[in-house]
Amino acid sequence: MTELTKNPFNFGDPVQGRYYYPRNQLSHTVKQFLENRVHVVLMGPRRFGKTSFVLDLFTQLEKAG
Ligand SMILES: Nc1ncnc2c1ncn2[C@@H]1O[C@H](COP(=O)(O)OP(=O)(O)O)[C@@H](O)[C@H]1O
Ligand SMILES: [Mg+2]
Repeated sequence: MTELTKNPFNFGDPVQGRYYYPRNQLSHTVKQFLENRVHVVLMGPRRFGKTSFVLDLFTQLEKAG
């Protein structure tokens, strides 16, 4: 398949890396809660990006040490 016909999206499973569209405002807010030792529960319908969001947050926190 050429680059043009490849699907740039990934549906179904949690997305990471180049398939993940950053949610900066949300991750900023959630990080502030976690830094203050406030437990956070993510609630939402399935397939709204909860798992992808948490995986990205872990990656960010790991990078930050
Ligand atoms: N930030 C995002 N960037 C790109 N695609 C996303 C994003 N969040 C969710 N998706 C899309 O939604 C689908 C389901 O995401 P997922 O993290 O598994 O949701 P949930 O855990 O809420 O069920 C992914 O396969 C992807 O197609
Ligand atoms: Mg999930």
